[in-house]
Amino acid sequence: MKSLLLGMVCALLFTTADAQDSLPLMPMPASVQRGSGQFVIDSSFMIAVTGVQDPRLLRATERFLVSLRRQTGMFPLSMKISDGSPASLVVHADHAGRDIQELGEDESYSLTVASSGITLNAPTSLGAMHGLQTLLQFVATTPIGFAFPAVTINDAPRFHWRGLMIDVSRHFFPINVLKRNLDGMEAVKLNVFHLHLSDDQGFRVESKKFPKLHEMGSDGFFYTQEEIRDLIAYARDRGIRIVPEFDMPGHAISWFAGYAELASGPGPYAPERKWGIFDAAIDPTEDGTYKFLDHFIAEMAALFPDEFFHIGGDEVNGKQWAGNPKIQAFMLKHGLKDKGDLQAYFNTRVQALVHKHGKTMEGWDEILRPNLPNDILIQSWRGQESLAGAAKLGYRGLLSSGYYLDLMYPASQHYAVDPMSGAAASLSSDEKKRILGGEACEWAEYVSTENIDSRIWPRMAAIAERLWSPQGVNDVASMYERLDVVSLQFAGLGLTHNSYYEPMLRRIVGSEDIAALRTLADVVEPVKEYAREEQAVTPATSLSPLNRLVDAANPESATARKFSVMADAYLGGKADAQTKMRLRDYLTAWRDNDVKLRPQIAASFLLQEDDSLSRNLSLLGDAGLQAMDYLDNNQKPTSDWVTQQAAMIQQASKPSAQMLLMVAGPIQKLMSAAGGENPSNKP
Ligand code: ACM
Repeated sequence: MKSLLLGMVCALLFTTADAQDSLPLMPMPASVQRGSGQFVIDSSFMIAVTGVQDPRLLRATERFLVSLRRQTGMFPLSMKISDGSPASLVVHADHAGRDIQELGEDESYSLTVASSGITLNAPTSLGAMHGLQTLLQFVATTPIGFAFPAVTINDAPRFHWRGLMIDVSRHFFPINVLKRNLDGMEAVKLNVFHLHLSDDQGFRVESKKFPKLHEMGSDGFFYTQEEIRDLIAYARDRGIRIVPEFDMPGHAISWFAGYAELASGPGPYAPERKWGIFDAAIDPTEDGTYKFLDHFIAEMAALFPDEFFHIGGDEVNGKQWAGNPKIQAFMLKHGLKDKGDLQAYFNTRVQALVHKHGKTMEGWDEILRPNLPNDILIQSWRGQESLAGAAKLGYRGLLSSGYYLDLMYPASQHYAVDPMSGAAASLSSDEKKRILGGEACEWAEYVSTENIDSRIWPRMAAIAERLWSPQGVNDVASMYERLDVVSLQFAGLGLTHNSYYEPMLRRIVGSEDIAALRTLADVVEPVKEYAREEQAVTPATSLSPLNRLVDAANPESATARKFSVMADAYLGGKADAQTKMRLRDYLTAWRDNDVKLRPQIAASFLLQEDDSLSRNLSLLGDAGLQAMDYLDNNQKPTSDWVTQQAAMIQQASKPSAQMLLMVAGPIQKLMSAAGGENPSNKP
């Protein structure tokens, strides 16, 4: 395990031997042409900024220098406004871009590195800022110093909408957590940060007009308007728009804590502690509701400058409406047949308010009804058919189905989802133009300040590539190779997706000696989709501690992924002696780990639930080694062995403590091959 870690640290900067092949860029630019030679970085490195003198671009250039100093440990590297004298890097933008960043602004740039100098040209500051991020990704370590390999890059995004949503309602994240995620977003050229600001569990923005929203709906955890303005400026400096979401008419219990009169059933209400879909919903039949929303939307539309205003609209079960005779009478009188009709009535009135306050309404799939104006935007979480259906009806949309990071799927799975594939592939070219891009979602039932970055990064970067790079960029092995490199660069930005891990393991063990737990933790993943809810002995709430191994475990085990690749090579007869040895080293470490972890399991209440996982890992390691022995010696196991091991694998593949042992699959392949199931796969 140690050698693996060391290898990862060394990959932080890549060497020119790698640079001969491809640059570790993510997202991969539209066009990359390698040249010969390199530009060597020395302490006379100087940047000139020509063209438009845009303070935002000047600040981005200053930040580029800070990053370059951090990456190289060198200084002074300096910057100047061009005075005609030569510079190492000339950054040129023609225009500053819009005062309030708009959907569809030109984000293109071209970048040329030659041994004599570097030029970065862009029509707007946004493109130049993206180009600076590209440059930071390929600082190479060479025999004569740090250098930028010679290259010509012409780049522009495939989609205009490349987003990340964070749910700050179910768990609250302080501003600094959001800022470091904005830094990560900038590094991979994402341009929309969607804040899910209210839900049943919390209302997270200060409202001066309706102060009981944040006072009674947030448990004290909310962003002041000053903090929001600061965050918006921070995002703008990084080429990122902020879209606020206030979920209505469902998912709104936190509003009712202070304003019970908005609800469709009698209170009192308090911020919800449980997870799930609840009955309470805003009363769409009261004029008072729309008076409230008029003032509320006016206030929030002024606070958030973006064109888009997200009203949520998902998962209204209609039960509170069904239980209210006054609402039923209203529906009868207005010819509203069902809850869908009533929600459509609500949306139509809310859309008029959103429009009145100068915004374009956005909502989840459920808001879509053909009588709404065509300028609304549909965020599709229900699937690609739904997105394509909206496009056919004339609505713009973006894809989130397939990009739910909280479902704990591997990067490769998200990477395979393309906004233009599936049902979208058969759309006309005009319909396709309505698909603006995609947005990853991080719902926060099981997310804390401590582990949130690990639930987003590095997998987010694979989605960022899908949304930026040409459709044909889809080689999974290349994606993972580059992801491993950029992931380490993210740590330099302050993202904690790696550094959170060991402190959590130390807490679980109650000791600094985490070697054995780490061996286990490295090969488990949290259960997928919503299985964590389904498998809970006691349902979790917003007050449940998030300090278990399932909270520390990575959504995607790099160790299991790499072991699986090696096992496939071995079974395909393509493993060299070193790979075979590494396979055996892993299996041996796993077989011998349970004995080491056992005393610690006995000593810590946080470890006790991991007992079966630890035993099963040991059994898997043992079985894998035996399988390799059979295969290497060309011997066949007895049918008893095959039967016993099949039962063991079945057991070891089941979720335990809400986790999965991710090496069960590749070890099963080794055992099947040893059992002669697939004779063509002999090593
Ligand atoms: C959603 O996942 N309910 C938008």
